[in-house]
Amino acid sequence: MEITIEPLSENARRPLAEPFGFGNVFTNRMFTQRYTAEQGWHDARIGPYAPLMLDPATVVLHYGQEIFEGIKAYRRPDGHINLFRPWENVARMNRSAARMAMVQLEPEAHLEAIVTLVRLEHEWVPNGENESLYIRPTLIATDVGLGVYASKTYLHYIILSPARSYFAGGFKPVSVYVSKDYVRAVRGGTGTAKTGGNYAASLLESERVKPLGYQQVLWLDAVERRYVEEVGAMNIAFVYNGKHIVTPALSGSILEGITRDSVLKLAPTLGYEAEEARLDIHDVLRDIASGEITEVFGMGTAAVIAPVDRLAYAERDYTVREAPGPVALALFKALTDIQYGRAEDPFGWTLKIEVPAST
Ligand code: PLP
Ligand code: COI
Repeated sequence: MEITIEPLSENARRPLAEPFGFGNVFTNRMFTQRYTAEQGWHDARIGPYAPLMLDPATVVLHYGQEIFEGIKAYRRPDGHINLFRPWENVARMNRSAARMAMVQLEPEAHLEAIVTLVRLEHEWVPNGENESLYIRPTLIATDVGLGVYASKTYLHYIILSPARSYFAGGFKPVSVYVSKDYVRAVRGGTGTAKTGGNYAASLLESERVKPLGYQQVLWLDAVERRYVEEVGAMNIAFVYNGKHIVTPALSGSILEGITRDSVLKLAPTLGYEAEEARLDIHDVLRDIASGEITEVFGMGTAAVIAPVDRLAYAERDYTVREAPGPVALALFKALTDIQYGRAEDPFGWTLKIEVPAST
């Protein structure tokens, strides 16, 4: 792929600066390319980060034909940069595209665009503890018109944002509200695709329970409202008796998380059993109440491993534990040690990007 790299004007050249949290500050440059049936993918360029100019009738704004990804770049102790399993994100983006009747991206070109952009913006990869550069590839439908059909033209862009922990409070546990009244996704729907509509569907309930002290909603299956699916921005896992990790099996309506998959592969190397199973919320709550479930945690790129202190269901709170548990802590350490290049990577999960020494 030929990527045109536009020069940055002097006043567009800002350094990594405070304050950044999660997704509130963006780097100087972004990647864009366009698709039309006649030209295929074309006009790949890296230029200044800038607003998009879209006709008000652009279909993405009306019918939500859009997908995105979330990847992180980590500063290694040697000053170079690691991406974590970016191949999986690139592959998932194409699965999301297929589900949303969108054009496929060329996987190698997509990864090259990510790597080229991160390398150009390498000074924006922070080096503080648990800091990273969050990468957000996005694909939107750009046909103009109000007819409901799959767009013939697309814009693919990638933006970068220096990131600290996703939840305020860092590794402090989050509280989770189990929704009985609303669902996020249904088998046959778009739950396995990383598309904006899934998040839009979650907002009403998430906003309602936030002032009650719950940072995330746990979604149940849409048919029986009984089987545990995932939380708003993470997959979820339960630890039985301090050693047996169980996460909901992929049901056809939950996102196939890359962190989830990594935990399933990493856990046995740390002496834990890990399995995927169908989990009935009533059994889960019973096992929390009896103490058989000793930990609950969420897993995701943005949130990494997020311990859960309590679940609310039908006006009742089920407390798991106040402080992060040993399994969540061990997984967090093992996972982030690989991500940041502090430990061996026996799985071949990291892609090292060599960069000049930062000033
Ligand atoms: N589930 C949802 C709904 C998400 O938004 C995310 C975040 O990406 C995840 C799960 C975790 O996926 P991953 O570990 O690939 O980031
Ligand atoms: C991620 O973890 O990358 C996500 O996409 C979560 C997000 C919606 C903030």
